[in-house]
Amino acid sequence: MILWFAKRYIAGEELDDAVRDIKELNLQGIGGILDALGEDITEKRDMQKAVTNYISILDEIEQRKIITVISVKLSQLGLGIDYDFCKQHMKKIMRKARHTFVWIDMEGSRYTEDTIHLYLELYKTYKNLGICIQSYLMRSKGDIEEIIKYKGKVRMVKGAYKEPPTIAFPKLRDVNEQFFELTRMLLKKKCFVQIATHDKRLIKRILEFIKKQNINKKYFEFAFLKGIRRKYRIQLVKEGYQIKVYVPYGKQWFPYFWRRVTERKENLFFVLKNLLLE
Ligand code: FDA
Repeated sequence: MILWFAKRYIAGEELDDAVRDIKELNLQGIGGILDALGEDITEKRDMQKAVTNYISILDEIEQRKIITVISVKLSQLGLGIDYDFCKQHMKKIMRKARHTFVWIDMEGSRYTEDTIHLYLELYKTYKNLGICIQSYLMRSKGDIEEIIKYKGKVRMVKGAYKEPPTIAFPKLRDVNEQFFELTRMLLKKKCFVQIATHDKRLIKRILEFIKKQNINKKYFEFAFLKGIRRKYRIQLVKEGYQIKVYVPYGKQWFPYFWRRVTERKENLFFVLKNLLLE
């Protein structure tokens, strides 16, 4: 059973819950990013189930005519146990996803290297594939330089996992600075960026750069997580920007929910404040 207060961030346990949310978003001029929750799967049987589930989700998207893309976690598809096994699963999903776009979520740092490697391998064949990059990781500048060589598509985020200060910037100021810098690098090279943050100040700074450089709207969009910045995203739609909302659903909702609550200590306060205000 899903906790009532987790429903702010998670559509529900069933695909129908996510479809209902996405239909509502579509009416507001917003596209969905559908995520079937699940991560760190260790049983091959469960990985195969996740692939079958995504294949049927792709069928449902076509049949129900909702405007959405999908997002997957590679640890759900076997990256933790066997790279090639995971690659075969991703290929099955990509063959089915010809009419939509697929994002690869970025998970904890033990998966970063393999996730980027697998992305670049698959991107040669599947141009409707994008990867999430976390600006808190010190290595990310090098990763972006590599992705730019392939003209890859990137979802830029700050990062949601607990990482040690040896590999991740401990100060939010540095995380924000790298977010801006990497987004700027991608936009300058005309690589598509999904700007995925709720940080209004950062969005404003990026928008100033976009306007100054006269960057075409086809090279970027903004994305938010379900339950955060509901009014602001509508304002951005009215201003003519492309907006997407990440809509997770599924029975394995707790790890995702817990990241939302604990991702930054100031967020704990903001979660409470926003719960009261909205
Ligand atoms: P920051 O944490 O600085 O928050 C800025 C402001 O946003 C806060 O001051 C508050 O007002 C509001 N806010 C932020 N989080 C909130 C919350 N939980 N509840 C209420 N208000 C909140 N991460 C990752 O590691 N891998 C991934 O694949 C993805 N994918 C992804 C997709 C999309 C579409 C988004 C928007 C985000 C992700 N993330 C992610 C999560 C991301 O890394 C990050 O943890 C969160 O977006 C929070 O960071 P902000 O950029 O919002 O900034």
